[in-house]
Amino acid sequence: MKTILITGGAGFIGSHVVRRFVKKYPDYKIVNLDNLTYAGNLANLRDVENAPNYEFVKADITAGELMKALFKKYRFDGVIHLAAESHVDRSISSPMEFIFANIVGTVNLLNAARLIWDDFTGKRFYHISTDEVYGSLGATGFFYENTAYDPRSPYSASKASSDHLVRAYNHTYGLPTVISNCSNNYGPFQFPEKLIPLAIYNIKHSKLIPVYGKGENIRDWLYVEDHANAIDLIYHEGKIAETYNIGGHNEWKNIDLIHLLCEIMNRKLKRSAGTSENLITYVKDRAGHDLRYAIDSSKIQKELGWKPSLQFAEGLEKTVEWYLANEEWMKNVTSGDYQKYYDIQYNKR
Ligand code: NAD
Ligand code: TYD
Repeated sequence: MKTILITGGAGFIGSHVVRRFVKKYPDYKIVNLDNLTYAGNLANLRDVENAPNYEFVKADITAGELMKALFKKYRFDGVIHLAAESHVDRSISSPMEFIFANIVGTVNLLNAARLIWDDFTGKRFYHISTDEVYGSLGATGFFYENTAYDPRSPYSASKASSDHLVRAYNHTYGLPTVISNCSNNYGPFQFPEKLIPLAIYNIKHSKLIPVYGKGENIRDWLYVEDHANAIDLIYHEGKIAETYNIGGHNEWKNIDLIHLLCEIMNRKLKRSAGTSENLITYVKDRAGHDLRYAIDSSKIQKELGWKPSLQFAEGLEKTVEWYLANEEWMKNVTSGDYQKYYDIQYNKR
């Protein structure tokens, strides 16, 4: 039986990856390591928590000695590393947390793998990263695997730094690493500080929808299950030392996306046309706000046969339905400091 470490498995994307691996690969033991920050929630994994091939370990990747001890104890065959601080706005207000979790945390895992794995044969360290490391595009063009890094927020700089360290450990120590850089994800279990679930939550509760700047920034959106599918493929078939870009060729201006969401919400909540749109409020722009992200994913499509399965309208509809059907989950994750955090954020704007 192979033992696979998945870090950050209680978060948004990690929970989809854990669920997929636990269900699809009964002959793997999946160890989910997460320290349960505000973004990590074990309720994301209720349907697999009692599976015989699943174990949860509450631990912080910034604890280097503990990571080595866990590598010794579990003798992991592979690592899929997703644990990170992931929200750009929080990285602007608290950059140090991103340096510790995303850079120091990644190096601790790399060191544990390097020092505790006595033989790299058959091993794999897979690092999950973002397209934001490539910087910001103008009106045209795409990010390719060989696009020069140009991170511009503390979040993307911390992820870029961790990507460089992963490549350095491959080059210097021969650690068998692979990296993927994905565009913006959406879908069930995303913490409602990110644009899509935040807008769904606010529309549901008739609160204002904050649109940064003029709403003209563009993101390339991918349904989270399509990302989990790509991660599965890359973990099993991706080439060591390679990078794969993942994206849906699905660019949306924020304001257009919000209008589409408003239409879906009006329909689902049986509110008259224009009701949700009235909540749209332009607020002060995010500092250093990247204009446009767009991924060229032809490498993974050609080499590994991956392609996105869902059209955006369908994925967004499914996402809205999930949030409306999971009020308890929403209540649970937005209890505690959630409201306080938002009041502070928006009072500052
Ligand atoms: P998330 O914030 O929803 O989840 C992150 C998880 O990591 C949480 O469960 C949290 O508790 C855990 N974590 C954070 N710090 C930790 C620490 N010090 N020790 C142990 N666990 C810790 O994030 P997400 O959106 O699911 O993103 C997962 C990964 O995918 C990240 O590495 C992110 O950079 C990357 N990514 C995200 C997107 C996106 O659109 N969300 C796109 C591309 C890449
Ligand atoms: P976000 O979901 O935070 O992802 P990222 O910054 O990693 O791309 O934001 C997506 C886009 O939506 C981004 O251009 C910022 C914008 N945005 C808003 O206009 N209002 C909001 O309340 C949030 C959270 C984001």
